[in-house]
Amino acid sequence: MADVERTEHTFGGGWTEIKLNAVSDYLNFYTRALQASPSPTNPFETWYIDAFAGTGDRTIESKSGGLFGQGSGVMERVRLEGSARRAIAVDPPFRHLVFIEKDEQRFAALERVKSDFPYRDIRCVPGDANDELRRIFSNIPWTQPGRSGLQRAVVFLDPYGMSVRWETLRYLADTQRADVWYLFPLHAALRQLSHDHAALDAGKRAALNEIFGTADWEQHFYQYSPKSADLFDFAAPASPSRNADPDKVERFAAERLRSIFSFVSEPILIMTRHKLRQFSLFLLSGNPNERAVSLIRKGVAAQVKKFGGRTLPFSRSR
Ligand SMILES: C[S@@+](CC[C@H](N)C(=O)[O-])C[C@H]1O[C@@H](n2cnc3c(N)ncnc32)[C@H](O)[C@@H]1O
Repeated sequence: MADVERTEHTFGGGWTEIKLNAVSDYLNFYTRALQASPSPTNPFETWYIDAFAGTGDRTIESKSGGLFGQGSGVMERVRLEGSARRAIAVDPPFRHLVFIEKDEQRFAALERVKSDFPYRDIRCVPGDANDELRRIFSNIPWTQPGRSGLQRAVVFLDPYGMSVRWETLRYLADTQRADVWYLFPLHAALRQLSHDHAALDAGKRAALNEIFGTADWEQHFYQYSPKSADLFDFAAPASPSRNADPDKVERFAAERLRSIFSFVSEPILIMTRHKLRQFSLFLLSGNPNERAVSLIRKGVAAQVKKFGGRTLPFSRSR
């Protein structure tokens, strides 16, 4: 297919490669670990579900060659594999792949990716990730007696911002059979937590309630100064001030995730070129089985070590 026919999807930076490398390394670990489990003759049926799939590719701008290289030093557009194409290439392969995408043009590009692999079970699903995930997991084979016990999935939640509903996370945890890579939008959440408490409007509150699955964030991140709590101070009480930084928000998010998932990894820090902490990448699982969890822990430990995880000062499971 000629390049001009492709829908270009330009997003991310060097940090995007960190994110995609961590996830695809884990996918390779996962299908290898599960290929003869629970038994070589009747192994798990593996699924990869990319809920914010994009086009399958991503385009970046890169300087070719430069002064000392072979090239001209001019900016050129380079196409790299996005999460969907990387998942197709995983070896041993996933048995089923599902790509969900809301944007029409990007969805059409995904259909073209699918047509490059006519012998693979690839389903492209148009629509909202939250709705479609629920639809997938509430239907056959996930709900089929007997067969449902052998279904196992890795779900990748890679939104631009605060699009993942808390109910979706809870639903995925409750399947007990999905490992979920979740790109938590740390910077977007911090931006909603306005420094000025009075600027917290209904829209910001709703977005924060949705991302944290509780309204408790308000008392966690805003405090009245001791002066305004003084009984003898008859001045109008001051507005509470924000007490939130990226560490605190990340810890709160991890704590909330631990309230519904049996396993929450250390987050991998996803920073932009300007050292802005944009996202925290977590691996989550609702699998209650100790052996399964220790396998997941082993699989993610390698990524956390390689890509820079953060040890959070608590490790409570539900
Ligand atoms: C960061 S990009 C995903 C990149 C992709 N994972 C990759 O590596 O190639 C986010 C994608 O999610 C899509 N999107 C945004 N909101 C969505 C929603 N609610 N449901 C499904 N897709 C959505 C966007 O159109 C965009 O293509």
